[in-house]
Amino acid sequence: MEDTRKRLIELLYNQTGDYISGQELSKQLNISRSAIWKHMNELKKAGYQIEAITNRGYRIVSVPHEMSEASLRWGLDTTWYGKEINYLPSVTSTQYHAHDLAREGCDHGTVVIAGEQTAGKGRLKRYWDSPAGLGLWFSVVLRPTELTPKAATQLTLVAAVAYAKALKKWSIPVKIKWPNDLYIGDQKLAGILTEMQAEQDEIDYIVLGTGINVNHTTDDFHPSVQHTATSLKQFLNKTVDLNALFRDMASNFETEYDHFLNNGFQSIKEDWEQLGYKIGEWLTIRTNTEWSGKLISLNDDGALIVEDVLGEQHILYSAEILW
Ligand code: BTN
Repeated sequence: MEDTRKRLIELLYNQTGDYISGQELSKQLNISRSAIWKHMNELKKAGYQIEAITNRGYRIVSVPHEMSEASLRWGLDTTWYGKEINYLPSVTSTQYHAHDLAREGCDHGTVVIAGEQTAGKGRLKRYWDSPAGLGLWFSVVLRPTELTPKAATQLTLVAAVAYAKALKKWSIPVKIKWPNDLYIGDQKLAGILTEMQAEQDEIDYIVLGTGINVNHTTDDFHPSVQHTATSLKQFLNKTVDLNALFRDMASNFETEYDHFLNNGFQSIKEDWEQLGYKIGEWLTIRTNTEWSGKLISLNDDGALIVEDVLGEQHILYSAEILW
């Protein structure tokens, strides 16, 4: 029953808005026309808007707001990103699941996305809070055979630029705090975690994880981060459709990633410098110790150039920018 319904949804949305006849559906699913009609009524109850026209057949007009593989794929205009989407209502971490799929040989662009994560991972082994239904928690498996492991740093920046540009279209003035945080004002909206499996000079695969706080109110955040974290809902004063947001993130990521692979890092670097958080300002930097540094820009690898109080420049591949 569940499988037939899943196949039926697949057949409907593969039509991308065109009609598919009842006869064709009944042939493909190997069930009667009246069974199709019953399934259609169940889909309508589940929030799908379906149009049925005599002699033409059925077509999906809109899908429900809750996330599912079908609703996430609905209207996704990518070529390779998310051709395979694995939606899990609850998972420890989409990163672990994506690593498993990658080891089993899944395709480039396979996505794992969760309603909630019970052990979400942040950078520097931190916990990433991922409550049910309030955010986008997703990981994508990338197989950039033409890149060397060094380019993984750049990929995090490619993702940050892609998301920041996508959010601009939603009128959200996002800045990128090096290397992987998206900020609205002085509050963190989203984070990116890039993990790589490589041998010597060859990348086997990369799992790029993204967490975006979307429909949180202040009380949904842990008290310890209520002043430092924010969500799209807090900024826009309205609930955001997670499916639509995912589609925009996916589509922009694919565009920027392909551009990066075809044209190199230069234009990403230029975009990043426009979007960089507190570039030109003095901040506290944590490496082995904490020190005061002025953020200058990026180098060609995507590392951060920082000037210390004596005017000496440092190239940072790994560091934490504090305040
Ligand atoms: C950070 O800012 O420290 C990075 C946060 C990355 C969180 C995302 S949510 C989806 C994916 N699964 C995880 O467990 N972590 C990443």
